[in-house]
Amino acid sequence: MSDILLEIRDLHVSADGVPVLHGVNLSIPTGETHVLFGPNGSGKSSLLAAIMGLAPYEITRGEIWFKGQRIDCSPVDQRAQMGLGMSFQRPPALEGVTVEAFTAAIGSTALLKTEAAALDFAGFAERDVNVGFSGGEIKRWEILKLFLKRPDLCLFDEPESGVDLEHIAAVGRAIDRLLGANTPADPQRTALVITHTGFILDYIHADVGHLMVNGRIVGSADPRILFRHIKTHGYSLPPSETPIPSSI
Ligand SMILES: Nc1ncnc2c1ncn2[C@@H]1O[C@H](COP(=O)(O)OP(=O)(O)OP(=O)(O)O)[C@@H](O)[C@H]1O
Ligand SMILES: [Mg+2]
Repeated sequence: MSDILLEIRDLHVSADGVPVLHGVNLSIPTGETHVLFGPNGSGKSSLLAAIMGLAPYEITRGEIWFKGQRIDCSPVDQRAQMGLGMSFQRPPALEGVTVEAFTAAIGSTALLKTEAAALDFAGFAERDVNVGFSGGEIKRWEILKLFLKRPDLCLFDEPESGVDLEHIAAVGRAIDRLLGANTPADPQRTALVITHTGFILDYIHADVGHLMVNGRIVGSADPRILFRHIKTHGYSLPPSETPIPSSI
């Protein structure tokens, strides 16, 4: 089997008929964590939604391969069964579905207890998912939800945004635990993480950073070097054809 878990080739995507991605190429080897940076509206969430197969994102050109299979025409539930999972930037509220019922449906009630404590999420079992949750509570539930599913490829859309400084540490450590190599039967997971704040880089081992601008990945580099570059120079890269690590 190829050691490339996710491969995206020349991906063009429209949202409700509006073109939002204009030729994205991305390869993520098994076990690596990649980080996606980019300004508001550059297409980061659209890319994650297109990988998951969510409406209203329509692939108009290009291919998505996962575990050696082409998935860009597969429905979202099939992609989830294959091992894709996502924490949303703005997840929907599920009225009438309690945290406990959601967890039981996935079959991970015991896990909920241990990880809920680590994420300061005890006492939410009877609450409807995301109904009345604060911004930070929504984000902590999104991480917990991924813990319950343990997808082979975890897509995180701004997992720390809106989370207070103390809980960011809990979120960061939980993501690191989720991704880390635990046992031979539960090996290092693969991830694509969107961040604006970069806080998450203090807690996880990140292998590669990508910069997305105007619906394209315009450069890739060591994630910490790339983040430092963005903090200093903004989202524009040096005017050079050379790879980012040698140019910043
Ligand atoms: N359903 C839609 N209809 C029209 N335009 C859309 C739709 N969904 C997304 N877009 C547009 O696509 C562009 C990319 O949006 P996206 O949410 O992917 O950006 P982003 O990089 O995640 O931004 P942010 O950092 O603010 O979360 C934006 O200009 C957005 O307005
Ligand atoms: Mg977004």
